[in-house]
Amino acid sequence: MNKKITIAIDGFSSTGKSTVAKELAKELKYIYVDSGAMYRAVTLFAMQHNFIGADFFDLESLSKTLNSIDLSFKLNTATGNADMYLNTINVEKEIRTLEVSNLVSIVAANPIVRKKLVAIQKEIGKNKGVVMDGRDIGTVVFKDAELKIFMNASAETRAKRRYKELIEKGEEVSYEDIYKNVVDRDLMDTTRKDSPLVKADDAIEIDNSNLTKEEQFNLILSLVQEKL
Ligand code: CDP
Repeated sequence: MNKKITIAIDGFSSTGKSTVAKELAKELKYIYVDSGAMYRAVTLFAMQHNFIGADFFDLESLSKTLNSIDLSFKLNTATGNADMYLNTINVEKEIRTLEVSNLVSIVAANPIVRKKLVAIQKEIGKNKGVVMDGRDIGTVVFKDAELKIFMNASAETRAKRRYKELIEKGEEVSYEDIYKNVVDRDLMDTTRKDSPLVKADDAIEIDNSNLTKEEQFNLILSLVQEKL
């Protein structure tokens, strides 16, 4: 039981990947990495420097300053989860807003950005014992992961979940805007040239539209146990 494996969880936006990935990492005492948080942090950086907005994207300036961006995860002792830090500032709250969600897939489509983040992700997971979620974890970052999960659910189910989550955090958003973001991001993420979101041939697909969080967790845990 001491064998450590790599668990890659990919899938469409708001499929609950991070919820189940966090629970798994706690149960297995593995490191959890939210790769989406890293793309979100780079997007926030680009917004703060006016490199991107609703109708412009200055990729050249972002590329030039990419080396000055320091990304790290630090344990939040109150929640027990790792928070995202951008240049020593905790940005966990800011990166989850709809504004960032509306721009992140544009930033994430860029090979220069991806190259930097994939290198960090590979380094964090090099000793295994990691659960990482994202879009290209099983296809690019850890092609040799022992367990690959591909998560899906209907767009409506996903938009409802994300809407509830943001409202509970006190954000003023409309369901229609969230639904549009979910659908737009899926399209951008699946059609980009570099590392598009696709199910890896050896990934196990789980549609969780009708699964409770508990059912989903138990299902994935049983898949992990088969591998150990
Ligand atoms: O939580 P949610 O499913 O809404 O998204 P996320 O995991 O926070 O990822 C935000 C965005 O980052 C995605 O829509 C992708 O555009 C990008 N992303 C990516 O390109 N590759 C990854 N490995 C993770 C995220």
